[in-house]
Amino acid sequence: MQVCVIVLAAGMGTRMNSDLPKVLHPLAGVPMLHHALSAARSLEPARVVVVTGHEAEAVAKATHAFDEAYETVLQDPQLGTAHAVAQAAPLLAQAEGEAIVLYGDTPFVRPETLTAMLEARATHAVVVLGFEAADPGRYGRLIVQGDQLAQIMEYKDATDAQRAITLCNSGVVCAQSRTLFDLVAKVGNANAAGEYYLTDIIALARAQGLSVGYVTCPEAETLGINTRHQLAAAETAFQTRARFDALENGVTLTAPDTVYFALDTWVGRDATIGPHVVFGPAVTVESGAEVKGFCHLEGCHISRGAKVGPFARLRPGAELAEDVHVGNFVEIKNSVLDEGVKVGHLTYLGDAHVGEFTNIGAGTVTCNYDGVMKHHTEIGKGVFIGSATMLVAPVRVGDGAMTGSGSVITHDIPAGALALGRTAQVNKPGLAVRLFERLKAIKAAKGKI
Ligand code: UD1
Ligand code: CA
Repeated sequence: MQVCVIVLAAGMGTRMNSDLPKVLHPLAGVPMLHHALSAARSLEPARVVVVTGHEAEAVAKATHAFDEAYETVLQDPQLGTAHAVAQAAPLLAQAEGEAIVLYGDTPFVRPETLTAMLEARATHAVVVLGFEAADPGRYGRLIVQGDQLAQIMEYKDATDAQRAITLCNSGVVCAQSRTLFDLVAKVGNANAAGEYYLTDIIALARAQGLSVGYVTCPEAETLGINTRHQLAAAETAFQTRARFDALENGVTLTAPDTVYFALDTWVGRDATIGPHVVFGPAVTVESGAEVKGFCHLEGCHISRGAKVGPFARLRPGAELAEDVHVGNFVEIKNSVLDEGVKVGHLTYLGDAHVGEFTNIGAGTVTCNYDGVMKHHTEIGKGVFIGSATMLVAPVRVGDGAMTGSGSVITHDIPAGALALGRTAQVNKPGLAVRLFERLKAIKAAKGKI
């Protein structure tokens, strides 16, 4: 079955009190919009169209960052949800099959719920997603007659009796794309808000003799974000769920409430995650790996048997092969560490490749930036980098080489060579004793003043 998804994201989001468009506020490490796009992607859609308006360029950029193939269309001015859907009509005029409308500010709709809506299309021309609201507030109300949805009444236009209904409209709707666009084109704006309401397609469909049904889901799925309070609550809800899922999937979390996941975090079975670990986007941790406490991870891959932290920072492009050990106060960016590499303490590796079983001493720095450009450091297999070595890139260290502690390495080192890049040591017999005496005398003299 071919499916197109239309994601409404033109709104201003006034109540966020922000210069950043609402749908771009981060939720679980990614822009809020990516959650809806990710639900869309789960349907393997033929086309995805995001309707933009407020800060359209930034929203389009975030859309393409998620998937280059997803399209955007501008809605200007924004005259309501039906008007927003209508903007996608020219793009999808030739599209066959189903159309589903999602919302950029409604992040938690589950793929299973969308599948249930598509299945309900076998019996109804239009299917709406509803939910039982604990506090129905200003949601649109579903007016039901038997298994048919007769109408959706917007709060502003509803009577007191209608406002007493607790079955509410999530906004998500599914129909054959041709049916959806035909209906939307007929919507008028004679209502309390003077807007073109998408919800009006229900009564229009019924008037044409079409069957309209509804599917319900838990209220948590339809949570819409309008304020920073709701954003914070959504973050908590996401993290609670992600921690639960990780534990269910066989991941050990020693202090689950302190671990923060991103939308796309992937952690394998029997991996162990310590306390206060924060996952940014695009992190994968293989089975059996261990991430100790207080690590920040982003855009990196940790292989089976690897141990990371405590207090390590892995940035985009950090690739750790099997059995790599990365210890405390180590930062790694855009670097590949082959099997069995050890980087124990206080080190920065950026734009580097480290060959298997190499040991990087404490305080080593790849000096990868010359103030204008970034340069690569190539370190071979079985190398021993002495503590506090500065590797001034671009530079290559051959297989099995060594560097003396405190060396500043500015030239390539051949395989098997020992490189010493520091001044030779000089010992002055007895000088320390004399120096101590002189300093103590100076201090004592000062004390008398
Ligand atoms: C809408 C529904 C309401 C439902 C509620 C669920 C309508 C008329 N009402 O109300 O029944 O209970 O959602 O949250 O559909 N948008 C655009 N362009 C526009 C207007 C809106 O893209 O011209 C986008 C907004 O950015 C937002 C979404 O559509 O993401 C919903 O719009 P909003 O104005 O918040 O609708 P509600 O009043 O919440
Ligand atoms: Ca809303």
